[in-house]
Order: sequence, then structure tokens, then C-alpha cells
Amino acid sequence: MKFFIDTAEVSEIRDLAATGMVDGVTTNPSLIARSGRRILDVIAEICDIVPGPVSAEVAATDFDAMLTEGRKLAGLRSNVAVKVPLTPAGLRTCKALSDDGVKVNVTLCFSTNQAILAAKAGAAFVSPFVGRLDDIGQDGIDLIADIVNVYREYPLFRTEVLAASIRHPMHITEAARVGAHVATMPPAVLRQMYQHPLTDKGLAAFLADWAKTGQSIV
Ligand code: G3P
Repeated sequence: MKFFIDTAEVSEIRDLAATGMVDGVTTNPSLIARSGRRILDVIAEICDIVPGPVSAEVAATDFDAMLTEGRKLAGLRSNVAVKVPLTPAGLRTCKALSDDGVKVNVTLCFSTNQAILAAKAGAAFVSPFVGRLDDIGQDGIDLIADIVNVYREYPLFRTEVLAASIRHPMHITEAARVGAHVATMPPAVLRQMYQHPLTDKGLAAFLADWAKTGQSIV
């Protein structure tokens, strides 16, 4: 399972990239706004920190403007994945960009039919929003499972299922259990994944016993 970090905060990305667990980054207009940075500058900086796919989302809603913006973003660095919303114009843009060899992440996916359209449009990634479905009482992980199962029936589909809108570590566990290719998570969720009280307790006990030996390894 690939881990992407869902943020435009460069300090967080730099810190977590050092763990060796970060395979890519996703951003969206809200995350860019929260960063207070200009999109072209912050995406270029993120791309220079993380060699994997870095999603940068267009802001236009019509095909011509989306295509222009997508090409501008793709031209920043070779590891930019252009993000487009799951709309008719977004999928038309996805097809045009992917035909040109540009990786596209189709976002704001909330149904299996939408995911089938994204795959037919040549998306490199489709981003079903798990947390936002859970927020309204629908099961976001069930959608991930359904998309994974449907894609498995069509080997020519090259689209990876990127579980997004992750709220807590259990979403990662559940997305992995149903075969999501990627999960994009807030920095805090990756840090939470390491935590277990029995690990802390066990390590403390090992270190206390080791101290009693008076030994050193080097
Ligand atoms: O990548 C999409 C993600 O940022 C959306 O998450 O928490 O706004 O639903 P959230």
C-alpha cells in the first residue's frame, strides 16, 4: 500500500519524508489556501522534497481552462499529478492530459459509477472520499471495496484506488483490508499509526533490563 501525505505544509512533508514511509503527496484548493502560499511555488517545493506523485488541483471548472491550468501544473515538475474534479469537464480534461502522458488524479469521487468513468478517462488515480461519506452515514470503506472489486474485473483499467478523506488510523487498516492501492492521510494519522502503549511499555522494560547488564554494544 502506498502512503501519500494529504497536506501543503512543507515543514510537515519534510519531517515525514525522513521516515521513509511517504510515497507521494496530495493537495487540494483548501489545503493550498490553508498553507498561505502561492500554488506554483509550494507545489514545486513539495515536488523537490518528495520524488513520488504530488497532486496539484486545477481551480477552473470548464474544459479549456482546466486543460490550460493542468498543463501549467504538469509543467512545474515531472512528478506532478494533476488533480481534476469528477465532473464531465474534469474527465474530459483527464482524458486529454493522460493521452499526453500526464498523470491525473480524479478527485471528489463518491460512487462506483464515478470511479468507472475515471478509469475510462485514463486516470492514474481515483480519490474516493471515505471520511465525507462516513460523515453522512454512508460507508466509505464499502465504496473503496466495491471500486477495487469492479476494477479487478477489467485488467485494462490502469487506475489506482487512492483512499482519501482519511480521518483516523482505522481508515488505513480498513482501506488496506479491501485492497486500496494508496491511502492519502493527514500528517497526524501517519504519526498515530506508529503508536501502541504496549510497544512503549515493552521498550521501557527492555531498556531497564539492558541498563542492569552494564554492557554497551559498541
Ligand atoms: O485529498 C482529499 C482530502 O483532503 C479531503 O479530506 O478531510 O477535507 O474530507 P477532508
